[in-house]
Amino acid sequence: RGPFVITVDGPAASGKGTIASRLAREYDLPMLDSGLLYRAVGVLATRAGLDLDDGEAVARLARGLKAEHLGDPEFRTRGAGEAASRVAVHTPVRLALRDVQLAFARRPGGAVLDGRDQGTVICPEAPAKLYVTASPEVRAERRWKQLKGQGEDVPYAEVLADIVRRDERDGGRADSPMRPAPDAVLLDTSELSIDGAFDAARRIVEAAR
Ligand code: C5P
Repeated sequence: RGPFVITVDGPAASGKGTIASRLAREYDLPMLDSGLLYRAVGVLATRAGLDLDDGEAVARLARGLKAEHLGDPEFRTRGAGEAASRVAVHTPVRLALRDVQLAFARRPGGAVLDGRDQGTVICPEAPAKLYVTASPEVRAERRWKQLKGQGEDVPYAEVLADIVRRDERDGGRADSPMRPAPDAVLLDTSELSIDGAFDAARRIVEAAR
């Protein structure tokens, strides 16, 4: 059997990150959190004083991104998610981050790829593809709790507005919009516990391999 790649795409706070990392552990595969690349670029570009709408300037920074840049806890904040989705609309930025993602997707032993376009653009040949969703309200509640746990006390309504805006930007952009691959299996986690969502994900992967 060839390299086994599992793609896990879907919107913010759908549960895809947790599902992806648990699948990686279950199948002993390395995992790529591709959103972290965009978060890093968004935060570092903001720190460097770049205009996030200037795709070429941000892409120059993205081309210099190194693995050792990725550990910064600020990349997990709400502002980082917003900055990430703004820089992610630019084709030159996406191209700058493409090679590292393709290299990961082609690792001989397989991988779990977490993102928005892993099943559609980065690894359309992956044998197992999940598209993880949940209602905006459920996702906002999860994100609100998570932010609170990190000490960011933001009103729920603002978190919900962030989620809706990010869905629109990620789903509406011309280059690599967030959407399920034609052969992805949809998994709605709105009514599922973490364990329930993981079990469902594992069954989908088992059926595909
Ligand atoms: O998954 P996460 O919330 O960390 O992603 C942050 C942002 O990065 C997303 O809202 C999206 O705009 C962008 N992204 C992307 N393509 C990916 C992963 C993330 O455009 N494969």
